[in-house]
Amino acid sequence: MSIRKLIFARAYENEMAKRILPENRPLLHLSPLVGWMNDPNGFSYYQGQYHLFYQYHPYDITWGPMHWGHAVSKDLLHWTYLPVVMAPDNDYDSFGCFSGSALELPDGRHMLMYTGVRKVGGDADKEYQTQCLAFGDGTKYQKYRKNPVIKTDELPEGLDPYSFRDPKIWQTPDGSYRVIVGGCGPDGLGKILLYESSDLINWKFRSVLAKNDGQFGRMWECPDLYEMDGKAFLVVSPQDMLPDGFEYQSGNGTVCMIGHLDPEGEHFTMERHQTVDYGIDFYAPQTILSPDGRRIMIGWMQNWDSCQTDAFNKPKWFGQMSIPREIWLKNDRLYQQPVREIENLRKNKVEYKDVPVNGTCTLDGIEGRCVEIFLTIRAEDPEKIYQKFSMWFAQDERFHTSISFRPQEALLKINRKFSGSRRAIIHQRRCQVNSIHGELKLRILLDRFSAEIFVGEGEQAMSMTLYTDLSAKGISFISEGAARMDITKYDLI
Ligand code: FRU
Repeated sequence: MSIRKLIFARAYENEMAKRILPENRPLLHLSPLVGWMNDPNGFSYYQGQYHLFYQYHPYDITWGPMHWGHAVSKDLLHWTYLPVVMAPDNDYDSFGCFSGSALELPDGRHMLMYTGVRKVGGDADKEYQTQCLAFGDGTKYQKYRKNPVIKTDELPEGLDPYSFRDPKIWQTPDGSYRVIVGGCGPDGLGKILLYESSDLINWKFRSVLAKNDGQFGRMWECPDLYEMDGKAFLVVSPQDMLPDGFEYQSGNGTVCMIGHLDPEGEHFTMERHQTVDYGIDFYAPQTILSPDGRRIMIGWMQNWDSCQTDAFNKPKWFGQMSIPREIWLKNDRLYQQPVREIENLRKNKVEYKDVPVNGTCTLDGIEGRCVEIFLTIRAEDPEKIYQKFSMWFAQDERFHTSISFRPQEALLKINRKFSGSRRAIIHQRRCQVNSIHGELKLRILLDRFSAEIFVGEGEQAMSMTLYTDLSAKGISFISEGAARMDITKYDLI
């Protein structure tokens, strides 16, 4: 084992990070210190702060040999970068330290469990995947010298050694450890494999917790499992999903299955399912329980199919996390809202009530790229509902991004066609919402290079990244037909 690669990566990120001005990054959304970021990893609360690691390729703004980047935060919104914790520097992880999770051990150490990937032969697809450990103190981590701890010979018969990744670990009340890992059968369909151990080193395959019967894409990546509000939640990010009406339009998106576990916790039975985020960019979320008992979810705010943006103002980083979201169960659905800590960052409140909109309108004090907006739209006359209401933002003469609502069809649409990408990546998405008589309540969070929209009380979310120059910060409202709106805007500081 050599730590030369890690030392080199630290020196490199340290030097290159000086070239990225804080104002050219999102204000609150975590972006990579330098280079490329994908999945959140090892999301945990350890020694008085939140830790978030991430899939990291410091040397380029495209995916490459995976390292683990690291940041900490007290409020889930202001992140401090710490040095990269793992580099692909062993035979068993020479192709990358892929996604995984973290756990505080009874002896006070912080442990990371991740997928070590190595290439076998010349075939690009033959990435041999095993589960590995690293132990640390919140800053420095050392890989376990007898890695990997779950090898491919511990796979159930017939499962693919090249698709065995993304361990999510937890400790059970009796003190033993369990982990679920994404696997793939000969049919090319995802399976969630459950392993158990009493000492973290020796693992036994216990069961196939859930399997894909073909309803949700192919391989299932980045599984998460938790109990909340009396139900079990199994959340996976399937590859290559087919859309189903207005659900699962992302290709690679995230499915939330709500159901129950058997008494042994070996088998998950699905009762219902839904898209986690109905926008363009959201994948591979992880959750934790905060010290005050909230279930908090954070996802990679990106879509694998639209990484080639050729952004108008090419930054020296690529990839962002979503805002951390409180989640809960209501009306048999997963609800979500930004963590309440965001309320401490609100400044410069501007509020308008019952503003008539018919045509285009702008309002004094309503503009900006780091703002939170609460918007309620309704028909002027409930007997004669408007045809379409839009909000344009990140707007100047050349650019704008939009949210638009057609009440007759109850369709909410996001559109980033004019948002600074020079490529024909996915620019639009529509989502079916609940609305009576043309009334709709939205919470919109803009943070320089993204927009996240929370519908109603949080029953749906739509997220997208954008690349527009930061000088475009206009906001306007357009209604076809007579509508009225209430709007409250805060600057986020
Ligand atoms: C999901 C994923 C994971 C894998 C990681 C590699 O986005 O493909 O399955 O561990 O990214 O970076």
